[in-house]
Amino acid sequence: MMKKFLGIFFFVFIVLRISAFAQSAAPVWVVPKEVKEKVCPFQFTPETVKTGENVFQKNCKSCHGDPGKQNWAKINPPPGDPASVVFQQQTDGEMFYRVTTGKAPMPQFGNILSEEERWQVISYIRSFNANYVQPTPIVKTGSGSKNVKLRMYCNYRHKKLYVLCKEIKQDKSEIPAKGIDIQLNVKRYFGTLTVGNPKTTNARGLVLFDFPSDLPGGPSGILEIMARVKDETGLLYANQVKARLSIGKPVMVKSLTDARAMWSVRSKAPVWLILTFSLSLVTVWGFIFYILISLKKLKQTI
Ligand code: HEC
Repeated sequence: MMKKFLGIFFFVFIVLRISAFAQSAAPVWVVPKEVKEKVCPFQFTPETVKTGENVFQKNCKSCHGDPGKQNWAKINPPPGDPASVVFQQQTDGEMFYRVTTGKAPMPQFGNILSEEERWQVISYIRSFNANYVQPTPIVKTGSGSKNVKLRMYCNYRHKKLYVLCKEIKQDKSEIPAKGIDIQLNVKRYFGTLTVGNPKTTNARGLVLFDFPSDLPGGPSGILEIMARVKDETGLLYANQVKARLSIGKPVMVKSLTDARAMWSVRSKAPVWLILTFSLSLVTVWGFIFYILISLKKLKQTI
């Protein structure tokens, strides 16, 4: 008996050790080469550090703790201290990529924080590194160094979306922007969904998307759609338009009390439940009456 028990104990112990090992041997977090050199488009200042601190407190502290205090959350893999040497060895581009894309359990902040906020939090993290020298800011969008503006048009009947992309020149004049990659996204409850592949604008600055007809929307089929310019990394969005269009498939959410179910109101309770309940009621009362009648008989015999 004891032997068997010990055997099970060791088995569980070994399984736990192996899984812990598998976790600690998780692949390193690789960053694409072209993103490594990405630099912040603005100069870090005491103001950006301050706003970055705010962003950090709200979004990062729960796991990474206070920089310099090594009080990160005890999770696996360990999040690490942002003030540590290892953490500070990353380039700004690497940090930006990691904050943007996330890696379980770290969330994908590309959908949560704006690009500016992500850079601000990096500026806060860098304020703990006395040796840090910021690379010269480069303003660069996904459209090369073009400043572009997007507009979205919708043909509901044929479920087509047109995105018009205009380049805004230095003198504020606008010309069609050719050769810009546009990606469609749909907002869901948690994060965003990519729809199809990106398409490139033509000479008139236009792209045409056939919208899938089977994407479920709300009761009236409304979807929040975003058209975004893809930048050179294919991940970090620089420019976008949003619109709420009734282009999805209308989906009526059934009320939980509509059908006969355990949790329904009384008039819609399942038949088997009503029967069981009634039957037990009859049985219990029947039994009580039976006892009462028997008692009466007992008295009479005495
Ligand atoms: C849910 C917990 C969690 C939150 C919230 C979180 N992180 Fe992380 N972060 C982690 C974990 C865990 C790792 C380590 C991942 C790995 O190495 O596989 C990590 C790694 C990183 C890295 C890479 C570090 C390295 O040395 O490779 C950066 C940069 C980073 N986090 C920044 C941030 C920033 C900035 C925020 C807030 C905007 C944030 N994290 C919020 C859990 C979190």
